[in-house]
Amino acid sequence: MNGSDEPAAALQTGGGPPGALSFYYGHPDPDAFPLAELQEAVEITLQHHIPASLVYGPEQGPPLLLNILCRKLLRDEGLRVSTEQLFITAGASQGLDLICRLWARPGDVVLLEAPSYHEAIAVLRDYPVRLVAVPLDDEGIMVETLAGKLRQLRTEDTDVAFLYTIPTFQNPSGVTMTAERRHALAALARDEKLWIVEDDVYRDLCYEGTVPPSLFELTGRQGVLRLGSFSKTLAPGLRLGWVLAEQGAVTRLANSGLRQSAGGANPFTAYVVAEFCRAGHLEPHVARLVARYHTRRDAMLDALAATMPSGVTWTRPRGGFFVWLTLPEPLTAREVLAAAQVRGITFPTGEPFFAEGGAEGGGERHIRLPFSYVSPADIARGMDILGQAIRAPS
Ligand SMILES: Cc1ncc(COP(=O)(O)O)c(C=O)c1O
Repeated sequence: MNGSDEPAAALQTGGGPPGALSFYYGHPDPDAFPLAELQEAVEITLQHHIPASLVYGPEQGPPLLLNILCRKLLRDEGLRVSTEQLFITAGASQGLDLICRLWARPGDVVLLEAPSYHEAIAVLRDYPVRLVAVPLDDEGIMVETLAGKLRQLRTEDTDVAFLYTIPTFQNPSGVTMTAERRHALAALARDEKLWIVEDDVYRDLCYEGTVPPSLFELTGRQGVLRLGSFSKTLAPGLRLGWVLAEQGAVTRLANSGLRQSAGGANPFTAYVVAEFCRAGHLEPHVARLVARYHTRRDAMLDALAATMPSGVTWTRPRGGFFVWLTLPEPLTAREVLAAAQVRGITFPTGEPFFAEGGAEGGGERHIRLPFSYVSPADIARGMDILGQAIRAPS
């Protein structure tokens, strides 16, 4: 890792035996970090943004970066927004945490997909809320089921803080919510006055087709807090993301105790990323990432087709980092993991991705397989081993 004293492999073994080939994390590929361009942006920041980048910054983030994000949204999605609708965070995770703090009251329900991103579930569990999961199929969250749950919660007089959804290249399933489902969800949210937290961190990493309009756009920009991040397209260690929302919601975030006390999130990093983008580095970098991850996505799909025994099924993501595999009964992911670790690979089984466990299917037969940070050759080797472990789990 170019001078780091911790090799990428050490950061990514994820609970497996030492030396195991890890398919554990949803990490970007460290070999693709744009180091020279970042160094240039750091130097420009030190030359031109002192003291602004080293003092407490404006609560919303530096206008330089807010303006760059406005231009990016217009260029990529034809979405015209103003800087008053954007709020810089220390990554999407911090955005979600702050939203929980401000939008959720003790005893509220937070709705989310089953499965959903396990670390978002961990953030939600830091708050005294009840998590209610709604199943996902290959078109995204099941809106009819969601409507039924909402009706039931209303009759119980239970307040719903918001729905947390990952509509694009979902973690862990790789599923993208169709345009039709998005329209249905946006209509339901408007009718039911349901706040939506739209986690859209993978939107730029599209390898096939196009990404449907965001829920933020489809709801008429009301009642949606859309999370973005530079973690997947630049580097997670930068700790930089944003919330796109109506102006009143942005004001609420900016007036939080955290932001009033600490000022804007990570001003130095925000300037570095702004200068990186202003120099025109972001678009070619994302194009290179898309090519790299597309090759790996194909390597994984090809390897699965070549190695999986009949009865095993998996999703076919059009972007993002993950394939989601389902084992045939009576096999469980845990027994396959045990057999796979003996043979030298590791991966997460499905349970942590289900906030409510058993009732929703529980994840016992699921395996999440990231293809983002493993080379195509290792993907082929790893899937071969996984196929062996499924054929002979004991
Ligand atoms: C769906 C989703 N949201 C958020 C994050 C974390 O984003 P950040 O690094 O910006 O906090 C991840 C990372 O895996 C993710 O998969």
